[in-house]
Amino acid sequence: MADEEFNNRTVLVTGGSRGIGRAICVRLAETGARIAINYGANEDAANETLDQVTAAGGTGAIFPADVSDRDQMKQMYARIEDDLGPVDMLVCNAGVARAGDKLDMTFEIWDEMMRVNLDGTFNAIWLAKDGMLARGFGRIVCMSSVGGLARNPLAADRLIAYSASKAGVVGLSRSCANALAPKIRVNCIAPGFIETDMTENATEEGRQKIYDATPLGRFGQPEEIAEMTYFLLSDRSSYTTGQTVVASGGMVNLP
Ligand SMILES: NC(=O)c1ccc[n+]([C@@H]2O[C@H](COP(=O)([O-])OP(=O)(O)OC[C@H]3O[C@@H](n4cnc5c(N)ncnc54)[C@H](OP(=O)(O)O)[C@@H]3O)[C@@H](O)[C@H]2O)c1
Repeated sequence: MADEEFNNRTVLVTGGSRGIGRAICVRLAETGARIAINYGANEDAANETLDQVTAAGGTGAIFPADVSDRDQMKQMYARIEDDLGPVDMLVCNAGVARAGDKLDMTFEIWDEMMRVNLDGTFNAIWLAKDGMLARGFGRIVCMSSVGGLARNPLAADRLIAYSASKAGVVGLSRSCANALAPKIRVNCIAPGFIETDMTENATEEGRQKIYDATPLGRFGQPEEIAEMTYFLLSDRSSYTTGQTVVASGGMVNLP
């Protein structure tokens, strides 16, 4: 059943080709919104997401662009507007996680985490905001991580750059929520460990450490983050902006 507030809206999901982003695209397809599926390099995976969107009764199209590249992003927004209409709702989900070797983490890793995770989120918001403000409607959800909020029980000492970039996403979302209110709401999700390509290399020992640190005793599924994203985009969260919702099975608690 289509949701009224999503009717005739275009939703852009960055990093929609795999993992959490794909689950978000498929969940939002059920609402009646048109889904713009962004991806970086993996066209086959993006097409698989589009197939799943279509199977869920939705419509959409795939749009390649490196979120860290402003020119590519500008061109992508223009193509989305031509093909699906202007972006009314935005999910800044694209991200990469590279661990450094403790204090030997390289400048290259730092730059990549900042460019993709933080610049990429900023680029997506900044290119969407003028149109949203002009039309008097906008909803934005950003993907942070528990790594941006608290000590990661698995690799806190190896995820310096990732954690810093994801803490930046929290601050960016909160500031944008203030700057863009009242017509645009901006919220953030901080997932714990979710079963995707990003976490597939976790060893059995590492997984056990996470289970032990997580009251719900398991990794989360991408669909559980997709449902929270839907909630934050929808009118069900109409009095909520500037917040970070932790979805980590209880591993991290905000006061
Ligand atoms: N999985 C977790 O446990 C977890 C926990 C906390 C937060 N998160 C965050 O949740 C988000 C999604 O993670 P995931 O686990 O679903 O990751 P994933 O399975 O590795 O998928 C990453 C997605 O981001 C896209 N992407 C990467 N770099 C990009 C770029 N420069 N430009 C455009 N797209 C790019 C990928 O596109 P291609 O397919 O083209 O490569 C892919 O669609 C990330 O921001 C991540 O940091 C994940």
